[in-house]
Amino acid sequence: MALRAKLLGGGYYVPDRVLTNADLEKMVDTSDEWIVRRTGIRERRIADEDMYSSDMAVIAARRALENTGTKAEEIDLILVATCTPDMFTPSVACMVQAQLGAPQAAALDVNSACAGFIAALTVANQFIGTGYYKKILVIGAENLTKMTDYKDRNTCILFGDGAGAFVVEASEEGGILATDIGADGAGGRNLTSLAFRNDEAEIAKRVSGNKQTLWMDGSEVLKFAVRIMVQSTRTVLEKAGLTLDDISLIVPHQANIRIIDGAVKRLGISHDKAFVNIEKYGNISSACIPIALCQAIEEGRAKKGDKIVLVGFGGGLTWGSAVIEL
Ligand code: COA
Repeated sequence: MALRAKLLGGGYYVPDRVLTNADLEKMVDTSDEWIVRRTGIRERRIADEDMYSSDMAVIAARRALENTGTKAEEIDLILVATCTPDMFTPSVACMVQAQLGAPQAAALDVNSACAGFIAALTVANQFIGTGYYKKILVIGAENLTKMTDYKDRNTCILFGDGAGAFVVEASEEGGILATDIGADGAGGRNLTSLAFRNDEAEIAKRVSGNKQTLWMDGSEVLKFAVRIMVQSTRTVLEKAGLTLDDISLIVPHQANIRIIDGAVKRLGISHDKAFVNIEKYGNISSACIPIALCQAIEEGRAKKGDKIVLVGFGGGLTWGSAVIEL
């Protein structure tokens, strides 16, 4: 029997501080009505100045370990999906390893932006499939609000902070049935945040002039997102030998309710088959899907034995989907 990574259980963390649409009305020329109609977002969570991705990742990871009765010493590998690390080095995964007290675990970050959690799950599934590792902690953690340009109304309404984590374990039953990951590097120019590179044209696009803030061509990303969510969902189902009728829930990346609605409509499935929490958290990049999956489990919408599609897209441009059996 082939070994697959089974999601034993998860945990998540979102900061207490809430940034509402009314707060944003005081910061940029926007309105609650516009934001809700164009994005579906009503509020998002913001980490304090002295809280970073690793801090949120550690809390989510501790909750995942506790919920699954797993000791930190049992973990072979810690994978952190993030595009907002505390530092260039050490990686967030190394910081988490130190704080959890898991010296035996290897640790690495995966940067695939909002598709990062699926990319990390795919990596975990490969390590488990070959028998190289037995237990892996897969985390999505983001501190996007520190990368947000709060002078740019096109983007500052979208993003929030948080982390979600799952313990995955080698299993002969259920688990990750198939994954599909991919990239369109040429489309990467549509969503950028600069590190060392001094690119005058890129810097000039930013309202704040700060090259580290995120700039996006929203309508280009939106078109890509709807197309790729549908395409990747179909691809991953085909790989798993399943159809949408076998799937009880879709947990999509939460970037814009119009993207989710557009994809659901094109796939020809009912709205209640998609899990949506965007109104409360906005876009938390790689943390969206693990947080949403944790909440779907809490709410009884995802149960043992259910087959679920996870699907996301993001900067890079990247995409990823997975069919899992809980
Ligand atoms: N409040 C009010 N007006 C706003 C606004 C805001 N916060 N942001 C933009 N506008 C204005 C624009 O300036 C534009 O005005 P104009 O017509 O006078 O030029 C108008 O609204 C329409 O802008 P447009 O960019 O076409 O809106 P949109 O319907 O594409 O929505 C996004 C913008 C960003 C919400 C949408 O494109 C989006 O969600 N894109 C994908 C985001 C995403 O997935 N990103 C992360 C990838 S993981």
